[in-house]
Amino acid sequence: MIKIAPSLLSADFSEIKEQIADVQRGGADYLHIDVMDGRFVPNITWGPKIVGDLRKCSALPFDCHLMIEEPERYVGDFRKAGADLISFHYEATPHAQRLLAHIRSLGAKAGIAICPQTPVAMLEDLIDGLDLLLVMSVNPGFGGQEFIAHSLEKVRQARELIDRANPACELEVDGGIGSENIGSLVEAGARVLVMGSSIFGTPDPEGSVRRMRSLLTGVSAR
Ligand code: DX5
Ligand code: ZN
Repeated sequence: MIKIAPSLLSADFSEIKEQIADVQRGGADYLHIDVMDGRFVPNITWGPKIVGDLRKCSALPFDCHLMIEEPERYVGDFRKAGADLISFHYEATPHAQRLLAHIRSLGAKAGIAICPQTPVAMLEDLIDGLDLLLVMSVNPGFGGQEFIAHSLEKVRQARELIDRANPACELEVDGGIGSENIGSLVEAGARVLVMGSSIFGTPDPEGSVRRMRSLLTGVSAR
C-alpha cells in the first residue's frame, strides 16, 4: 500500500490540533515532521519539546526528518519525544552506519535522507541497516519548491537497490509532490509520499489527502 505522509511544515500551527485531525480523517498514514536547525539548512523549525506536545494530538506514526548537523546528538531526545521513524541526512554525519544502529537500539525505525546532489549509490554499504530511504526531490529547507525532475530517476535507482538488497526498507520521496507527479513517483517505486503544500496549503487538507489517494487508484506500483 502507498502511504501518504502530510508534512506539518505547511500546516497552520495556530490551529494545529484541527489540522492534524483533518489529515487523520482524510486517511494520512504518517505525520511527517521536519526538524531544521538553521545550519544544515537555512530554515529553523522546532525541537523535541514541540514534537512531544504534538504527540498528545495524534496516535499516527511520527516520521521525523532531521535536517540538522550532528544528528547523533539529538536522536535520543526525538525518540523520547515520541518519534517512531527517525531519518537523518547522509550529508550531515561522518558515521551514518553507527547512527542507524543507535536509532534502532532506541526502538525507532531508522532512515537516511539524501539531498539531490547525493547519488543513491552512496547507500550501497548502508542499505542493510535502513528501515527507510528518503529521496529528497527538492533541496531541503523549505516547503512549496519545484520538484526536481531528475529525482524520478533516483527513485527508480533506489527501488532497484532496495529490491536487491533490503526489500523491507521503505522508499519515501519528499519535496514538490502533488497531484501532477504522484502517479509517476509510485510507478518509479516510491511507497511513502510526503506532501506539505499540496495538502496543508489547500483550504481542505482532509479532502486533499482523500483526493491524492483516489488519484493513486489503478496506478501500478513498481
Ligand atoms: C523540505 C521538507 C519537506 C517539505 C515539503 O525540506 O523536507 O518535508 O515540507 O514541502 P512541499 O510538499 O511543499 O514541497
Ligand atoms: Zn521532509
